Amino acid sequence: MKIVAFHGSPRIGGNTDILLDAFLKGAETSGASVEKITLMSKRITPCIECGQCDTTGVCVLEDDMTPIYDKIREADTVVVASPIFFYNITSYTQALVERSQACWIGKYVLKTGPYGGKERKGIFLSLGATKGKMLFDGVLRVMKYFFDAISASFAGALLYRGIEKKGDVKKHPTALTEAEELGSLVATGADLDSFAPLYIPGSK
Ligand SMILES: Cc1cc2nc3c(=O)[nH]c(=O)nc-3n(C[C@H](O)[C@H](O)[C@H](O)COP(=O)(O)O)c2cc1C
Repeated sequence: MKIVAFHGSPRIGGNTDILLDAFLKGAETSGASVEKITLMSKRITPCIECGQCDTTGVCVLEDDMTPIYDKIREADTVVVASPIFFYNITSYTQALVERSQACWIGKYVLKTGPYGGKERKGIFLSLGATKGKMLFDGVLRVMKYFFDAISASFAGALLYRGIEKKGDVKKHPTALTEAEELGSLVATGADLDSFAPLYIPGSK
């Protein structure tokens, strides 16, 4: 089980970072090979809509996204972790999402089959400061379409409200143990549908 995980917060050692590390600890302990990529430290240009991937399914921009395409192609599970910024994922995460347009073209226009020749799973981890009921509505839709573009079935999301200051996630009663357990379940290929803390797209 190969897991590639994207950390989308600019705050290194912040809440998303801590939550993602808990997930990866669980996954690694249960035998997965994991790679964490901090998007803040990469230079990933947003899509420039040049249209060149329309006929090739390959992005012509050459930056730190270039090797990431291969990492996604090889991955069995792709994890995206982003805090909520203005009811959205962060711009670092959004650049990654936009650059999956080349994958979308391959899948839906050129019909070259699943990205990297296989289907995979997508997991989303997110948190925000407020407690609004609709806090995650927009980003869940974005993730649905991102995961679809990279041939990942959106297996579920862990979503936490009321987490604001750096390190607040450590005070949450369940977040870190749940993330670690989810990592372990993903690594072992267990059925995630019965893992109660998980938001399963389309189920609620
Ligand atoms: C630019 C910015 C915008 C934010 N927008 C929201 C928001 O719309 N809703 C919310 O609940 N929290 C918002 N937050 C709060 C963060 O989601 C929260 O502090 C989170 O714990 C940050 O996670 P991190 O430590 O991983 O960066 C915002 C924070 C920043 C810096």
